[in-house]
Amino acid sequence: MNILDLIKSRHSYRGKYKAVPVPREDLIKIMEAGLAAPSGCNKQTTSLIAVDDKEILEKLHSVIEPPVGETAPAMICVLTQRINAYRDKCFAVQDYSAAIENMLLAIVELGYESCWYEGHITDEDRIGYKMAQILNVPDDYELVCFLPVGVAESEPSLPKKLPFGERAWLNGFRNSGK
Ligand SMILES: Cc1cc2nc3c(=O)[nH]c(=O)nc-3n(C[C@H](O)[C@H](O)[C@H](O)COP(=O)(O)O)c2cc1C
Repeated sequence: MNILDLIKSRHSYRGKYKAVPVPREDLIKIMEAGLAAPSGCNKQTTSLIAVDDKEILEKLHSVIEPPVGETAPAMICVLTQRINAYRDKCFAVQDYSAAIENMLLAIVELGYESCWYEGHITDEDRIGYKMAQILNVPDDYELVCFLPVGVAESEPSLPKKLPFGERAWLNGFRNSGK
């Protein structure tokens, strides 16, 4: 698909997934797309773990409460290191956000669906920390997001977005385009 059409067609998918395995090559391609993202001062603060092992997936989902993405045959966990790019400037959030968007696009391009689950696992109940422990992630990395990967059973529901003209302008704030 043309990249611009792909960007517009990507949506968060929160439905069930088909029991169709995701080949390892596809998981690698998705992670390569993530790591190809820019990072502040090229600090490359984002690391990734793809999980397709049934037992490990079950363990991870046992700590994700309420359950989300539990029918997906694979997931990609996003890890960040809060390293300063320079002085006190840390771009870790921007770095992993760019990596996640690249991966979401690669996921759609390869015929799968996903959803950016970050809010759900970074709350006070520290689900991300529990997931990190299961995956033997060292303490200087934080597991901030996971992306289920799989073939969707249904269509993603489309969110309401504000019209273009309410959020983007030419030549000045709220300019009508002259
Ligand atoms: C930083 C961030 C955190 C998110 N966390 C969650 C989450 O925990 N659970 C969820 O269902 N969706 C989560 N989302 C997905 C958003 O809800 C979704 O992108 C938004 O509603 C717009 O829909 P769209 O992705 O279909 O364009 C998150 C998205 C971002 C960027």
